[in-house]
Amino acid sequence: MLYLNGHFVRPEDAKISALDRGCLFGDGVYEVIPVYSRQPFRPAEHIRRLEASLAAIGLPNPHTAEQWIALVKQVISQQDYEDLSIYLHVTRGNAGERDFPFPENTPPTVLINPAPLVVPSQEAKATGVRAISHADFRWLRCDIKSLNLLPAVLLRQAAKQAGCAECVMFRDGMLSEGAASNIFVVKNGVIAVPPKDHLILPGITYDVVIELAQQHGLPLEVRHISETEVRNADELWMTSSTKEVLGIIELDGKPVGNGRVGPLAQRLDSYYQAFKQTIMRKPITC
Ligand code: PDD
Repeated sequence: MLYLNGHFVRPEDAKISALDRGCLFGDGVYEVIPVYSRQPFRPAEHIRRLEASLAAIGLPNPHTAEQWIALVKQVISQQDYEDLSIYLHVTRGNAGERDFPFPENTPPTVLINPAPLVVPSQEAKATGVRAISHADFRWLRCDIKSLNLLPAVLLRQAAKQAGCAECVMFRDGMLSEGAASNIFVVKNGVIAVPPKDHLILPGITYDVVIELAQQHGLPLEVRHISETEVRNADELWMTSSTKEVLGIIELDGKPVGNGRVGPLAQRLDSYYQAFKQTIMRKPITC
């Protein structure tokens, strides 16, 4: 069962109008929340980012944080799988016509769609993945988790066609992020990652990885990183709710460092796995 506009329905019965502004304009925002052992991971943080995205596009939030989390938990309770990826989106609804300015008195469309969580296998984690790079041709509000994902679709497709898993993006000679992940760089034992500004999505996994690095006393700099630094890095890794911490071993056909998943990527992923376990053993409080 998925949740659509106040009802729990089977996926085949979930219908949205062809005139929904999510379809016509990509006029909406979304979240992807991983669930481990039926426990949503960092739910309060995901809902806070949803609230920020909604506020940024002037879309009134239909629910309080507590209501959102209760809805997500209701969806989880109806699934057979223990580990899930919860896709949640809110659009500006169906105004009945295609007109650019915001419609009045139009309720939003709310969709919460669960799917089994597929994270990289241990083998993929050990082997790492390849990436291509591309100019970041997205807009200047990449901090909003918007439904307008055409750039990510095109860049992930280009990556796939090149036998790669991700596309690392540069804007004006500086690293921004992956098509659907944040990118960390390591040089001489120091981890670096771009700051959370309007040019990248403030990743929830990004925050966790920074916290874990700091807790374990690993040197970490949050700063702008040049393309040259990325191309000369000892390690690169990507982070996201579904990829966790995944080493990138090749960029544009050239090995990253020695061409193997680096020791810091491995350490951060093992800290992340351990952190996940502690969350899963604890009853959730929010
Ligand atoms: N994407 N940057 C971009 C552009 C992303 O799309 C994502 C996640 C991230 C990582 O964010 P987080 O750690 O909160 O998952 C960074 C999700 C998984 C998606 O669109 O499917």
